[in-house]
Amino acid sequence: MIHIPQFNIDKNLWIEGNLLWGKKLALEIRKQLAQNVKEKNIEPGLAVILVGEDEASKIYVGSKEKVSREIGYKSIVQRMRSDVREEEILEVVNDWNRDSSIHGILVQLPLPGAINERNILQAISPRKDVDGFHFENIGRLHAKSEGIIPCTPLGIMVMLKEIDEKLTGLNTVVLGRSNIVGKPMAQMLMDHSQATVTICHSKTQNLDYYIQNADIIVSAMGVRNIIKNEWVKNGAIIIDVGMHRAENGVCGDLDYKELKEKARYITPVPGGVGPMTIAMLMYNTYNNALKARQG
Ligand code: GUN
Repeated sequence: MIHIPQFNIDKNLWIEGNLLWGKKLALEIRKQLAQNVKEKNIEPGLAVILVGEDEASKIYVGSKEKVSREIGYKSIVQRMRSDVREEEILEVVNDWNRDSSIHGILVQLPLPGAINERNILQAISPRKDVDGFHFENIGRLHAKSEGIIPCTPLGIMVMLKEIDEKLTGLNTVVLGRSNIVGKPMAQMLMDHSQATVTICHSKTQNLDYYIQNADIIVSAMGVRNIIKNEWVKNGAIIIDVGMHRAENGVCGDLDYKELKEKARYITPVPGGVGPMTIAMLMYNTYNNALKARQG
C-alpha cells in the first residue's frame, strides 16, 4: 500500500481563505518531527552531496542542512568540485550506505554534465534513498508497494490529505511528466486519491480543453504562464510547483493572485509547495531512522 502520512494540523494554522500556505503547514510538521525525535530518543541522520557551484542548489542544500539541525537530526554535507570524478562520488555514497548513523542520502541535482546521474542515484541504498529516485522505489510506487516517495509530490499529497477533500473520480490535470514530480504525482492521484488523471506536457495540443475540464490542476512544467486564467474552472483546486525568478522575487507557473478569485484552494508561490518538499525530506529521513531501529 502507498502510505501518505497524516499530521492532523489545525487548518486555521495554515489555510488563509482559500490560500494553502505550505510554509506554515511545513513548520507545524517540522515541530511534530522534532518532538517525535526527542520523545523516541533517536537521531535521524541526513547526508547530502553537493557538486559544483550551482547557486540554486547551494541555497537548497543550505536550507536542508539548517532545517535538519533545527529539528535535532545529524546533518552531513559533502561539497565536491564540479570536476570531481564519478568514482569519488560513488565512494562517498558507498561509505554512507554502510554507516548506520545515516538514514537518508541525497545527491543534489543537477549534477555536472560529465557525471552519469543515473549511476550515482542507483548506487544509493534503496532504504536510504530519501528522494525516492532509486528504481526500486520508483517501481514500488508504481506497483502500490510501500517504499520511499519523492518529496515534492508527497508534500502535495499531504496537503490534499490535510484539507480532507474527496478527490474520487475528479478530473485531475498534472502539467509535466518528470520523474521527480509529474509521474509520481499522477500515480498517487490515481492510486491513492482515486482521481481521474491526465498528464499534459510541453507537446500537448489543445491544453485549454484539458484545463477547462479540470477539477484539480497540478502545475509542474517549469514554464511560466502556460495556462490562461480564463481556462480555469470555478472552484478548481490549484497546486503550483513552479518556481521562477521574477521582477520582484519569485513566482510560480501560474498567477495565484488572479486565480485565487475563482479557485476553491490554491497554493501561493513563494510559500506554497516549496517548503513542503523539505518537510517531506525530513519525514522520509525520520521514517527511515524509525525503520532502521525496528530492524
Ligand atoms: N534538485 C531540484 N529538486 C531536487 C530534489 O527534489 N532532489 C534532489 N536531489 N535534487 C533536486
